[in-house]
Amino acid sequence: MEKIVSLCKRRGFIYPSSEIYGGFSSSYDFGPLGVEMKDNIKKAWWNEMTKFHENIVGLDAAILMKPEVWQASGHLTAGFADELVECKKCHKRFKLDEIYSGQTSVNCPECGGELTEPRKFNLMMKTFVGPVEDEASQTYLRAETCQGIYMNFENVLNSMRMKIPFGIAQIGKAFRNEINPKDFIYRVREFEQMEMQWFCHPKDAGKYYDYWLNERINWYLKLGIKKENLRIFEVPEKERAHYAKRQIDIEYKFPFGWKEIEGIHNRGDWDLSNHSKYSGKDLKYFDPSAISGQAEEKYFPYIVETSVGVERSFLAFLCDAYQEIKGGRTKTTKATKEVEILLKLDKKIAPIKVAVLPLVRNKPELVEKAKEVYQILKPYFVCQYDELGSIGRRYRRVDEIGCPWSITIDFDTLKDDTITLRDRDTMAQERVKIANLREYITNLLG
Ligand code: GAP
Repeated sequence: MEKIVSLCKRRGFIYPSSEIYGGFSSSYDFGPLGVEMKDNIKKAWWNEMTKFHENIVGLDAAILMKPEVWQASGHLTAGFADELVECKKCHKRFKLDEIYSGQTSVNCPECGGELTEPRKFNLMMKTFVGPVEDEASQTYLRAETCQGIYMNFENVLNSMRMKIPFGIAQIGKAFRNEINPKDFIYRVREFEQMEMQWFCHPKDAGKYYDYWLNERINWYLKLGIKKENLRIFEVPEKERAHYAKRQIDIEYKFPFGWKEIEGIHNRGDWDLSNHSKYSGKDLKYFDPSAISGQAEEKYFPYIVETSVGVERSFLAFLCDAYQEIKGGRTKTTKATKEVEILLKLDKKIAPIKVAVLPLVRNKPELVEKAKEVYQILKPYFVCQYDELGSIGRRYRRVDEIGCPWSITIDFDTLKDDTITLRDRDTMAQERVKIANLREYITNLLG
């Protein structure tokens, strides 16, 4: 993990937040490469849901909602709380399930002090709306994006004339006052979720549950995650989220162990029935086929949810792609003694698609031509221009950020307007005409 964290900072993927003030624990900023990669993950998920599946529409609901939403959802009660113990000496707090893990008596892992009895600690982040900070103006930053989807269930149903089964997809920020944020961007207090809520007839929920679990595992595999690094964990009843009738976690084998990256939940009618009860608004679905006597008239749809954090999938993609090659793969003089890093990111996830490199930088005609090629490609692909150091070093820099293709401008380019296109993974090189480059790379990208 240390190597990955260091690569992230060194190459502009992820920086610690507020670093000049000593950092702000658990907050991270995504740098120029990080923001591109994050965007690619979100695009891949959005396309998967709204383009490659039938009957799924998008939504972008507000982060701030009426506090009643969180009362009805069960997030303000014990359901959304961690059990904590506090050290009587240093006053640090720890999650009960993490600290005990099977042992009966434990002291503070930091200073050895005595620990208090466990207490519940709610994870909702409080805030105030308006200028007066009293109880009436208090609300919460959303802890899961899907509540905004339930708030708009009727709006989407009516305005888009949807019929069950259908889905609503959303990507957005969520906040949790995590007691013990850790493992880089794995557990943070501010994160983004990509959630899809599938509304279906209760009798079909089991069938769709299996379908969506399978679809979501395939999504990771399609984007290059190794099969042996993925597994599923059926969460037993007493450990499930308060709303879940069934819960399976998709887990990834991180350097710090097998950990959840996505939850697949059968939420039953927990959300719609509770919001109906608390708001007084009937959120039952009227089935048009009831008119012909083929179905019951009104019912609360069941919800099958797929929920993944952008940061957790980002970290899984990074860890899966990271390789060290001892002795080096490119032919620089020092390479044999060094370890080269290769980030074998899927071409759709890779932040930079094409690197443009003049063979040497002390030949103005090569530099000029390389800049021309860079300008041709830049509107269509995220490109990087690099002229610093030997060509071998530059290939290594390109491999380290997972850039799938490099273009070298050499002396032949000046004669026949062709370039050398190098493939990151195979290191195979081929000559391509500059006039055909845009189409050629578009095809490679699929
Ligand atoms: N709406 C259902 C829901 O929120 P969850 O299992 O609590 O379910 C879903 O969260 C996903 O959100 C997790 O699998 C994880 O990817 C992400 N997530 C949750 N808490 C997180 C945190 N503190 N930091 C980063 N990602 C988090």
